Amino acid sequence: MDHFTYRHGTLHAEGVPLADIAAAVGTPTYVYSTATLTRHATLLQDAFAPLRPLICFAVKSCPNIHILRHLVSLGLGMDVVSAGELTRALAAGCEPANIVFAGVGKARAEIDLALSTRPAPVGQFNVESAQELEAIAASASALGVTARVALRVNPMVAAGGHVHIQTATPTSKFGLSIDQARALARAYSPNHADHTAGHVRIAGLHMHLGSSIVTPQPYLLAIPRLLALADELADMGHTIDTLDLGGGFGADYNTGDAPAPTAFAHAIIPLLQARVNAGLKVVIEPGRFIAANAGILLTRVLYVKHDQGTGRTFIVCDAGMNTLLRPALYDAFHFLWPARVPPELVPLTRGHTPTFASTTAQSLAHAPHPQLTTVDVVGPICESADVLAKARPLPPIAQGDLLSLFAAGAYGMSMASRYNSHPLPAEVLVNDRAFTTIRRRETLDDLLAHERD
Ligand SMILES: Cc1ncc(COP(=O)(O)O)c(C=O)c1O
Repeated sequence: MDHFTYRHGTLHAEGVPLADIAAAVGTPTYVYSTATLTRHATLLQDAFAPLRPLICFAVKSCPNIHILRHLVSLGLGMDVVSAGELTRALAAGCEPANIVFAGVGKARAEIDLALSTRPAPVGQFNVESAQELEAIAASASALGVTARVALRVNPMVAAGGHVHIQTATPTSKFGLSIDQARALARAYSPNHADHTAGHVRIAGLHMHLGSSIVTPQPYLLAIPRLLALADELADMGHTIDTLDLGGGFGADYNTGDAPAPTAFAHAIIPLLQARVNAGLKVVIEPGRFIAANAGILLTRVLYVKHDQGTGRTFIVCDAGMNTLLRPALYDAFHFLWPARVPPELVPLTRGHTPTFASTTAQSLAHAPHPQLTTVDVVGPICESADVLAKARPLPPIAQGDLLSLFAAGAYGMSMASRYNSHPLPAEVLVNDRAFTTIRRRETLDDLLAHERD
């Protein structure tokens, strides 16, 4: 559920008509709802409350510092994967203790930065290789601090909505195998004589199975494997006080796609409750579940191009794969609909074939709504992959119309690029009846800013 709704045929973000935002800020623009962000963060907090987890928002999914600041105000920590994301989390007011630093390729300068935060280094490094652990130990020793480390384990469970977002398969570059993690823990045992190694403390285990996961089953397979390893590490003398389950909870791209967080929580809590009661700290790192449905992408139709010969109609928009990469990269589905429609075409559900108040069971079983025509919605980029929606039944669309791509809040703006030298889009945050530009649209001057003599 989100707070983007049609009132008398006009799409609103909370209390603001999207046409007002387009008039003030232009297009393409990402528009976020504060109420949806709050709702999704709160749903997770409530569902997992018995485990009292540290919920670290995956900054990569939606890194605007105004969004991060709001989530920090709700009590969330941050999951970062670069010095850039770390800088954003700190700028948003996140305590270093509530930051986990993940990522398979942390450069030495990034490690130094994460160990130099004040008043203390970041709360946790999620470590993915023996050489990375060596680098962290060397940095910590040089800086005279101790790094808290969780070993990222690959529990070999295939999960996730697309092969590109599965991260725990045998061929994945992510994490350590259970054997590698065991060997590393042995090498860094607390009794280790090496001075440098003494500057890291292996305090936890981490996993991240993949993204767009819509059933708790993969977590049920993977968690016991981590718990068994945690017990082995404890036997070696490590104090394993943290289990980081990663992110991955799916979002609602089609109405009804995403299970409620309680579905995950009810399955996971029984596996961990006794250990939490005995002092184990649980971390989760959701991104998509919180941010995806909290954002839409607003785009304007530049041209409608009909080919009599093939019968195809192309709706050419000012947003493309440079603005929202997911359809081109993952073949991802984003519900797309005009920001203003006649009352009978207000969609009740989102999906390839939406339903309407007037949709009867009979018409649903046959063709799409008679007022819809099948079109391709494309962007301005010089790539054939630049398609936002292929063969999609849509209401009549004219040049200059505003369209909305739903569930675009996660991995939307964060993956946007300047390909074909288009400046990056604007971002707007709505709160009830007010809206604020939280990232101004880039200008042509911005494009050249780093290339001037
Ligand atoms: C280590 C890690 N944690 C958390 C996430 C967030 O995943 P999601 O947005 O599916 O919740 C990711 C996504 O790539 C990740 O790599």
